[in-house]
Amino acid sequence: MTIRAVVKGVGHYLPERLVPNTELESLVETSDEWIRSRSGIERRYFAAEGQTTSDLGTRAAQAALEDAGLKIEDIDAIILATSTADLTFPSAATMIQANLGMVRGFAFDIQAVCAGFVFAMANANALILSGQANRILLIGAETFSKLMDWKDRSTCVLFGDGAGAMILERAEGNGTNTDRGILAADLHSDGRQKDILYVDGGVSTGITGHLRMQGKEVFRHAIEKLAETAHSSLEKVGLTSDDVDWIVPHQANIRIIEGTAKRMQVSMDRVIVTVQDHGNTSAASIPLALSVGKQRGQINQGDLLVTEAIGGGLTWGSVVLRW
Ligand code: ACO
Repeated sequence: MTIRAVVKGVGHYLPERLVPNTELESLVETSDEWIRSRSGIERRYFAAEGQTTSDLGTRAAQAALEDAGLKIEDIDAIILATSTADLTFPSAATMIQANLGMVRGFAFDIQAVCAGFVFAMANANALILSGQANRILLIGAETFSKLMDWKDRSTCVLFGDGAGAMILERAEGNGTNTDRGILAADLHSDGRQKDILYVDGGVSTGITGHLRMQGKEVFRHAIEKLAETAHSSLEKVGLTSDDVDWIVPHQANIRIIEGTAKRMQVSMDRVIVTVQDHGNTSAASIPLALSVGKQRGQINQGDLLVTEAIGGGLTWGSVVLRW
């Protein structure tokens, strides 16, 4: 008998304000055509004034609880992946805990930027396998619109706000790669690369700051590292790209998504793509894509999924799971 962390439910929430590329044409010197051809993004959502990451995360969590047929009393822990917590502290996870009326268990944030949800899944899996918790509510929620420099056209057209959530539950498996649940994870970071993607604010500066990115450099690392980590985690459990039903990538740029699929020799009809509708929602993008993929009827029980992501740090990694 092997303990597994199995997906019990997913959900997502997008703010009301839908912003098509054409709306950004009036803010910076850009065009719908440039944004679509360079990134694949057609639209994104922005949180309303005063609407915070914990607000979005709470709504996604409620949707996941409903999908799982569970109540908040059934949850032992909340892990929120985010780089845009409402305040420096307390964690936005504890704010969501309070919003949901959860009065026991524990909640904390994980900060691994766009790779945050992959790191959250790996950590939740470890907590379940070690007996610390039986059911964990994982959330990826972000309000990156609040980190944009609206004079920098090379970044402000790429990001959006949103939240996705997943409930993982302890289950018994037979210890083979046919089990449902998380089968393998592969995590990395390289702090030497901090200057290619960062926010120029924080506690040490006294300001929130703006996102700064050397797009071409990030692109190069993404193409190189994402297929490699996906292969590594598949290899850990004796699987290959041929076994994969769905790649669920971090949704940053269609060219990175296509490049990674090509390197993995997986055709694009086996890739969940939502970047056109959400833009880059950082740690929210994978749970959003999982929830939308399930809603579309693409992801079904028993399917083998690989999620992979790269973000500031650099941080990157992948998780293999059977739905
Ligand atoms: N509209 C019009 N022109 C623009 C815009 C814009 N919004 N932004 C930049 N340009 C211009 C540039 O100024 C440049 O002009 P120049 O040649 O006169 O100097 C030209 O377009 C080309 O710019 P490049 O940077 O060469 O464009 P590139 O093809 O590299 O695409 C992009 C830029 C989309 C940012 C790409 O490099 C990329 O996707 N990088 C990866 C970024 C990413 O995915 N980051 C997220 C991962 S991590 C995370 O999610 C936090």
